[in-house]
This record gives sequence, C-alpha cells and structure tokens, in this order.
Amino acid sequence: MAPPSQILSTLLLLTTCSLLSPANSATCSSQTFTGNNLYRFCTDLPTLNSYLHWSYNPSQSSLSIAFIAPPVTPSGWISWAINPTATGMVGSQALIAFRDSKGGMTVKTYNVSSYGPLKESKVWYDVKESSAEFSGGVMRLFATVVLQEKGETAVNHVWQVGGSVTGGVPDKHDFGAGNLGAKGRLDLLRGQSNGDTGGDSGIRKRNIHGVLNVVSWGIMFPVGIIIARYMRTFPSADPAWFYLHVFCQVAAYAIGVSGWATGLKLGGESKGVTYPIHRNIGITLFSLATIQVFALFLRPKKDHKYRTYWNIYHYSFGYSIIVLGIINIFKGFDILNPEPKWKNAYIAVIVVLGGIAVLLEVITWTVVLRRKKLGKLHDGF
Ligand SMILES: *[C@@H]1O[C@H](CO)[C@@H](O)[C@H](O)[C@H]1NC(C)=O
Repeated sequence: MAPPSQILSTLLLLTTCSLLSPANSATCSSQTFTGNNLYRFCTDLPTLNSYLHWSYNPSQSSLSIAFIAPPVTPSGWISWAINPTATGMVGSQALIAFRDSKGGMTVKTYNVSSYGPLKESKVWYDVKESSAEFSGGVMRLFATVVLQEKGETAVNHVWQVGGSVTGGVPDKHDFGAGNLGAKGRLDLLRGQSNGDTGGDSGIRKRNIHGVLNVVSWGIMFPVGIIIARYMRTFPSADPAWFYLHVFCQVAAYAIGVSGWATGLKLGGESKGVTYPIHRNIGITLFSLATIQVFALFLRPKKDHKYRTYWNIYHYSFGYSIIVLGIINIFKGFDILNPEPKWKNAYIAVIVVLGGIAVLLEVITWTVVLRRKKLGKLHDGF
C-alpha cells in the first residue's frame, strides 16, 4: 500500500485537474448573473452573438429567461420573442429592451403583426416581471412570463437586434443573413427529454447529493468537533472521546466523499448551467477534509515539540470545514430550491447544535476555571 502522503498528493493532483478542465466549450455556460438569477438551461444562439438562458416550470407554464445580445449601437435595442402561430417574425410576441428617454433601460412588449412600425401592446403570454441592463456593449433582457397553453414544452422563438429607437419606438433592424436567420425551435425542457440535467432522474440525483452532503458536512463533522472539544475536558472520557471523534469524522468523510463525487458528476452533466462558487467551495472542503483524515497518521506525540503546530493546523482546518460546509449547504439549497421545510429543518438542526455547543462551552469553562482554582488544570484543554 502506498504511503498516505503519496495518496494525498495524488488526490490533490486529481482535484486540481478537475478544477482546471472546462466542463464544456459552450460560452453561455460561463456567463454568470448577479443576484439570485439562476437558470437551468442555456444556449449559444446561432446568430447575432446572442445567448439565451432559461428555466421552465411546466406545471405553472412559467418561463424565466435572460436574453443577452449586443445591440447594433448603444442607442439600439435587443429583442426576444415567442411566435405561437408561425416560425418567423410576423406573429411573434416580442419583448424588446432599449434605453428609454430618461436613459434607463426599459422592456416593452409588442405583438408584431406586420412589418410596419411597432406599437406597444399586450402579448400572447403574461409578463410577470421584466427588466434590462446594459453594460460592456451588451444588453441583458430578463423576464418571467406565463405561457397561455398549459403543458407546452416547446416554442418557436425569434431574436433580433437593432441600431436605433425613435420616439420610444424601436426602429427596423437590418436584413442581413444573421438577422434573417435569427429564429428557431426551443425545447423548454431540453434537459428532461434527454435525461440530462433536469427530469425525475436528475432531480433524484440532486436530492441524493443534497442529503449525503447535509448529513456529512452539515451534521456529522460539526458533531465530531463538538465531541472532541467538549468531551476531552473530562479525564474519565479519555481516550473514549478520541476514538469517538475519529470514528465520527472518518464516517463523515466517507459519506462526504460520496456526496462530493455525486456533486462532481452532476457538475459534469450540467451542460447548461454551472455553479462555480458552490463547486469551488465543495472542492476546497474535500481537500481540507482529506488532509485532516490523513493528518491523523502524521500526528506528533502529545509532548512532541511540534504538537502545538499540529494542533493549530488541525483546529483551524476543522473550524474552516464547519464554516465552509454550512455556507455550501445553503448555496446548495439555493440551487436545488427544495420545499422550504427542508431548509427550515436544517436551520433547526444548526440552531440546536449551536445551542448545545454554547451550553457545553459554558460548562467547560466553569469546570476548567474551578480546576484552575484547585490547581489541577487538566493540561489537554
Ligand atoms: C396580435 O395582432 C393580431 C393582428 O392584429 C391579432 O389577430 C392578434 O389577436 C393579436 N394578438 C394578441 C395576443 O393580442
């Protein structure tokens, strides 16, 4: 069997490699959004340097999109539309983003019934919310719309960019090949139909990933640390606390690694959307925990002169794991977006664990201070 340090460096190397290798070559998957805007799918549209990100909830026919494109000029416009009756521009139900007269970005809806001048109007879908941004030469149009027909899973869509707006009305666009080819069919549940990122099996995999990681990083690691910190104060608990601590952390590590592996798999399968922060925290956690487990074998004896340094390292890694683990679990909740009761249940678990830790901290200090008074300070604390 290879020595632990060799296994460790191999694991670190593998970790680094998986961090560097791009999940896929699509451009839209590297686009990120401010705030909590997360979209399940994205596509690099074939013309006009434009991108579409979207999430679709079929039971409510609710579609959230972010359409990204460079307008022809800064005073131009960008548009994304659904055409419920045909495949081209005529009949399309358009969202158009442009700068309004006050200089802010606005989004308006148009029923494009002919090639004539546009007139703002109601459209075939309900617009729940819409907004737009303009920066770096690129406009971003955000909208959440509710489609009319329940259960619809694919739509004809059309996108477009223009160079000017006159009196609050977007002017005609160019008629180049890119403009004329800016249309297609959009499968709103792309992931579900090919078992990719969505669908029942995708959701089940995500739930397994969530449960494994919450149990490991979110509950067992903190419990193991509580055992180590508070049981050792009592000489009668020595060396039981140590074996309990090691057992708890090694079990947590085993579950955590499987949770981590499911996460890597989900990340590799997710063609549309990546969650770089969640992924990087996950990789950091795995690395820290791996070092912790192997450090068990490299631990200097209690009275060795380096033991203090080992302790400092071991404690700081341990507390970092608790903090990062909890942060990443909440990041995961935001991504998976399960029913609120799950997040609330986990918050309750943390509050209880935190309460226990505070209580034990008080008890420990009372005991330690009393011992100090009696001149019998237990040197392990
Ligand atoms: C859009 O305009 C066409 C032609 O005027 C009309 O037939 C259609 O009902 C309109 N659609 C909506 C959603 O208002």
